[in-house]
Amino acid sequence: MVRQAAIRYTAAFLKTQTLPAMKPDTSNAYGTVSRFFHWIMAAGFLLMLFTAVAWTLNEDYFSLIDLHKSVGFVLLVLLLLRLLWALGNLSRRPQGNLLVKLGHGALYVLMAAVPLTAMLRQHGSARGGLKVFGVEIMNGAPEKIEWMTRLGNEWHAPLAWALFVLAAGHILMAVVHQLKGEKILNRMLGRD
Ligand code: HEM
Ligand code: HEM
Repeated sequence: MVRQAAIRYTAAFLKTQTLPAMKPDTSNAYGTVSRFFHWIMAAGFLLMLFTAVAWTLNEDYFSLIDLHKSVGFVLLVLLLLRLLWALGNLSRRPQGNLLVKLGHGALYVLMAAVPLTAMLRQHGSARGGLKVFGVEIMNGAPEKIEWMTRLGNEWHAPLAWALFVLAAGHILMAVVHQLKGEKILNRMLGRD
């Protein structure tokens, strides 16, 4: 009896609650889903930068490599979902000029190329599979595959540093436009 009354009361209470509405992408601002992908991934890339800088300054911190690989893979999965969302909402989103389009496009290409080159090397170097937070999600090749190893060795780190430089330029431009009164930052902060 008491249990049923409690369930009925909870159901009636929940009916009175409304979730904050999810905002769609519009020509003035990015919606809830786009902002979620943007900020969670920005935090992820900051963590990647932190691991790379840490072991560049002190090689003992190469112990962070498992975290680096795991977060890197999660970022690739998020990127795929973000890309699908962006393509599905392309006509509804804020439209930038050609330079903005090229800049965002280059960020997308690098965000994909950086983890992919590392994953190809992981497979091709025949040094075991890729573990993401302890779970093996890709096996390693039984024998070394030269082109995959070389691709990763030659491109992963330089492309990753280029991505960080481009992202720094992107952040600078967002702040400069905001200070000039163009309110570009508001588009990614959910303010109209
Ligand atoms: C998604 C974003 C990723 C970013 C931004 C990133 C960034 C970087 C950077 C900047 C370095 C160079 C550090 C240095 O100069 O010493 C590096 C190295 C490395 N990364 Fe990543 N990484 C990513 C994903 C991955 C993934 C998914 C893997 C594993 C499959 C991985 C494995 C490695 C390894 C083994 C190294 C050391 C060897 C080397 O310098 O190439 N990374 N990463
Ligand atoms: C403090 C850090 C950051 C700030 C303040 C920031 C700010 C912004 C702003 C204001 C926009 C909208 C620009 C417009 O519509 O013209 C934007 C879009 C974008 N940002 Fe950032 N950003 C940051 C970090 C990053 C990072 C680290 C990346 C990638 C590595 C990135 C990738 C993108 C991309 C690809 C877009 C296009 C919209 C989308 O498809 O998500 N941002 N950012």
